[in-house]
Amino acid sequence: MKKEFMEFMEQSTTVYQTAAETSRRLEQAGYERLEEKDMWNICPGDKKYVVRNDSSLVAFSIPQEDEGVKGFHMVCAHGDSPCFKLKENACMTVEDSYLKLNVENYGGMIKETWFDRPLSLAGRVVVRTEGLLLETRLVDMKKPLFVIPSLAVHMKRGGEKDGELNTQLHLLPLAGTSADKNILHRMIAKEVSADEKDVLGADLYLYPVQPPICMGLSGELIGAPRLDDLACVYCGLDALLEARPSDKVALLAVFDNEEVGSQTMQGAASDFLLSVLQRIADSLKLPLAPLLAQSFMVSADNAHALHPNYTDKADSTNRPVLNRGIVIKYHGAQKYTTSAFSGAYVKAICEQEKIPYQTYHNRSDVAGGSTLGNIALTNVSVPAADIGLPQLAMHSALETMGADDLEHMASFMTAFYQA
Ligand code: CO
Repeated sequence: MKKEFMEFMEQSTTVYQTAAETSRRLEQAGYERLEEKDMWNICPGDKKYVVRNDSSLVAFSIPQEDEGVKGFHMVCAHGDSPCFKLKENACMTVEDSYLKLNVENYGGMIKETWFDRPLSLAGRVVVRTEGLLLETRLVDMKKPLFVIPSLAVHMKRGGEKDGELNTQLHLLPLAGTSADKNILHRMIAKEVSADEKDVLGADLYLYPVQPPICMGLSGELIGAPRLDDLACVYCGLDALLEARPSDKVALLAVFDNEEVGSQTMQGAASDFLLSVLQRIADSLKLPLAPLLAQSFMVSADNAHALHPNYTDKADSTNRPVLNRGIVIKYHGAQKYTTSAFSGAYVKAICEQEKIPYQTYHNRSDVAGGSTLGNIALTNVSVPAADIGLPQLAMHSALETMGADDLEHMASFMTAFYQA
């Protein structure tokens, strides 16, 4: 499983590549792609998936006729990760000697971790094929092309302290010593086999050229960019493909834009998931409300593990650590969806299947993060729990998790789909 996961991570360099790689694996397992613009005719036993905006995906497996359909068991995760995004007219020169890129923040990364790492570029471009006809093409340059050089320690002397890093001032990536500001556009056009003048749009992101690696004296740690939340995406996919059919529709939703608040046409705040559920119900000639009343959602996004050097940052009695099982997340103000009931349901599955679990609360004086579960519930209101894999250095260019927890999460999600 670890090796498969590493391969998945290496392909999934941006949210677009993640949706494509997930689609490829679904197709390989016999899932058929639906288009939102078509009429759907879904039958018992069907395995289908649908993609919106090339970046969000919902896949589902319908129970066989004899099982009936008694609701949806849904796993929701996100395919996007914080990084730097290229602006329009991104190439700029410095004193006629350097070429650098104008970028902006996508989400909240730990900026200093992006210094002095080989970076590449991936995402999608939109190509005009004829007249007003536009076509999306994915692009992943794969090789190291850029670096964000840090300032030498000697140049910080003289009382100047490390202030807050400003992307516009301190983090624009160096692209070489060419003075040709069109060179990147040309490279990208060539990469997608299009004429330069027809490449009219791009959603391109920088990513660290860093394959996932095993660390720890016994290889028990995994280090990789984007573990938040691709580890949960991978486990959800693995579970969907492994699970035995039950009387629930097994569904995996991978949303874009969690890192920027989810309020987009393909984010968790959109009608994407609800629309898919409605269309499944219509197709099966079942009313949606009774199905939803028997459904359950797991919002799967990674959790903060106890930090070995900052142990005071963890809550007093809820201190998840690496390799000790999945994390159930609680929050009094309901940024996490877990309730006494839904948390108990997750625990009951874990105990029945002998899967280790841990619990997480923020320290009461720490704001903590948020995720997509409670946002998705505003459209699809079902009992839900927030869970995740314990990890360190969330939003760093190299995050760390426990290798055993991958198995724990995949086993949990499989049992959830079969419950
Ligand atoms: Co996340």
